[in-house]
Amino acid sequence: MTLLIKSTLSHKENDKPIGIFDSGVGGLTVAKQVFRLLPHEKVIYFGDTGRYPYGPRSQQIVAKFSFQNTNFLLKEKVKFIVVACNTASAVALPQLQKHYQIPMIGVIDPGAKAAIGTTKNRRVGVIGTVGTISSDAYRKAIQKLSSGIKVFSLPCPLFVSLAEEGYIDKKATRLIAEDYLSPLIKKDVDTLVLGCTHYPLLKKVLSQVMGEDVRLIDSAEETAKEVRIFLEVNKLLRESKGKAYHKFYVSDVPDKFMQVGRRFLKNRIGKVRRIDINRY
Ligand code: DGL
Repeated sequence: MTLLIKSTLSHKENDKPIGIFDSGVGGLTVAKQVFRLLPHEKVIYFGDTGRYPYGPRSQQIVAKFSFQNTNFLLKEKVKFIVVACNTASAVALPQLQKHYQIPMIGVIDPGAKAAIGTTKNRRVGVIGTVGTISSDAYRKAIQKLSSGIKVFSLPCPLFVSLAEEGYIDKKATRLIAEDYLSPLIKKDVDTLVLGCTHYPLLKKVLSQVMGEDVRLIDSAEETAKEVRIFLEVNKLLRESKGKAYHKFYVSDVPDKFMQVGRRFLKNRIGKVRRIDINRY
C-alpha cells in the first residue's frame, strides 16, 4: 500500500465509511480491532457467507470473488478498503490494487512486518489456510523486507472449523494443535504468525502448545494499526467525533453470521442485511 495519496481529498471524503470484506465471519476479528482503534469511523462489513470458505479454493475463484466484493463496497461509497481475509489478501490483493484507484490494505504485510520486528532468532513460523500457505505470500513479504529470516509455513485448515464451532478450550483442539504445530516446534521458531482470520480465537491453546517463549503475531491487530496510520497520514480520518455506524452485509441468510459473529466480535451484532453478490 502506498502511504500517501497524492490527490487532495475533500472534507466529504473523510466522512465516508471504511469498507471491510472477508469470506464470512472471520474478518470480524479485524473489524473488532478497527472498531477499537478507530471508534469514530463508520464501517461497512461484507462477509461472503454464501461462498465461504475461500481457504480451499483456487486462486482464480478467490480473485473473482474478491473483485465482486470490492465492487459491492465501492457501490456503498467507501473511502478505503480492508481485505480482512488472509486467503484473499494472499492471492488477490495485488490484482485488486492494480485494478482499482481506491486505497486498499490486506492483512499479509502488516503481519509480516510485525513478525520481522518481533523475531530475535530470525526463525518465523506462519500458519494459515491451504490457499494462504500455498501462495507463499507471508514468506515472500517477510523475506522481501528481511531476506535473512527463515520462514516455515504450515496449513492448519481444521483450526477454522474449531474456532467457528466454539472449540476454544477443548481437549480435541489441543490434540489437533499439538499434531499440527509439532513441525514448527522442531524448527525452533520464536515467532508465529496467525495468518488466518480465525486463529486469534485460539491464541490461548496455540500459545500453550508452542510454549510461552514463542511470540504470536495477530495479523488482525497489526492491520488495524496500519489502517489508522494510513487514515491519519492522508488526513482521511472522520472529523466528527459523534457515534459512527457499523453496517453488516452477507451473501447468505444472516442467522449463523449473527450467532457465530457474536463470539468473534465479543459483542452483539445489530442488523445484518443479505445481498446478492453475483450482481456485482
Ligand atoms: N477468512 C479466511 C482466511 O483468513 C478463513 C476462512 C476461509 O477459508 O474462508 O484465510
